Amino acid sequence: MNSSTNQVYPVIWHNNSVSLIDQTRLPNEYAFVEIHRCSDMAQAIKTMIVRGAPAIGVAAAYGMYLGAREIETSDRNQFLNQLDKVAQLLRTTRPTAVNLFWAISRMLKTAYETFGTVEDIKQTLLNTARSINAEDLQTCYAIGDNGLKVLPQTPEKLTILTHCNAGALATAGYGTALGVVRSAFREGRLARVFADETRPRLQGAKLTAWECVQEGIPVTLITDSMAAHCMKEGLIDIVVVGADRIAANGDTANKIGTYSLALVAKAHNIPFYVAAPLSTVDFSLSHGNEIPIEERNPEEIYQIGDTIITPTGAEFYNPAFDVTPAQLITGIITENGVFAPGELTKSRIKQFA
Ligand code: MRU
Repeated sequence: MNSSTNQVYPVIWHNNSVSLIDQTRLPNEYAFVEIHRCSDMAQAIKTMIVRGAPAIGVAAAYGMYLGAREIETSDRNQFLNQLDKVAQLLRTTRPTAVNLFWAISRMLKTAYETFGTVEDIKQTLLNTARSINAEDLQTCYAIGDNGLKVLPQTPEKLTILTHCNAGALATAGYGTALGVVRSAFREGRLARVFADETRPRLQGAKLTAWECVQEGIPVTLITDSMAAHCMKEGLIDIVVVGADRIAANGDTANKIGTYSLALVAKAHNIPFYVAAPLSTVDFSLSHGNEIPIEERNPEEIYQIGDTIITPTGAEFYNPAFDVTPAQLITGIITENGVFAPGELTKSRIKQFA
């Protein structure tokens, strides 16, 4: 954390290695893990020391460089061959967030398109990883500011509901959905943020609440089952969530529970926005049912901390993400502007214009 601004940066290139905030230890402990090797980065992504789609992308980019650095040959073809294996290792860490695959592809493309010595390629890979990191931060600022354009005009100070953690911890810094919250707070448009995802991983309780408290953003934690009630009571003006992968038609995978939030928001006529960088859009998938959904260890369900809360004999199902159909999404807030889900292809044209 930058002590003068309280700004949180979960992935930092520092002293020839990567410092990761250990997100599994928050909010009780604010500690860093130093990553020197690609296999350790892969493990850190798998175990969710670093998590959140854009942050995973940034971490994987550095992982590619660390892997490249470990390759000993000076022969270009052998080097590229071994780099493909590094990419393969990183691809197996988590299946849903497309930013992981996007960042790995960008790093591989950089390597294949760089000529000169193997040492030149390695240096270019480090530069590219650092660019991906810096660009994601700028992207989050732009998403936050574009989000201001869709905030309801009334009331003057809004209550925004967000799910899981799409904050600074989930990105290079500032956040996507929480970036919109931060920008609204800065502009005097925020009354408070309601945060949920209190099961299975408690990311709203542990991470979003922590981020808000650090910056003095008023935050009310609710359990996931309370969202419909809060909407009915008129406590929520707008819902803004992040995304792990958006199909070309706008169907959006995000942390489990997002789909039910979208349904109840629709039932109460409350705008429901997804905030995400364009790197989260997977144009190779036409519909959300093609998005691979990670299934995590059932201990996230039968256990809280070290305490087992269910009888033996029960069975478990623990999908980590769900897919919200495009028709439930009011708009997608990106760094290039806000798009109706069906208009995403226009965002692509604008991206490459
Ligand atoms: O399982 P996680 O904690 O990696 O899931 C994170 C989310 O679902 C976030 O909402 C998503 O990655 C968007 S992050 C800006």
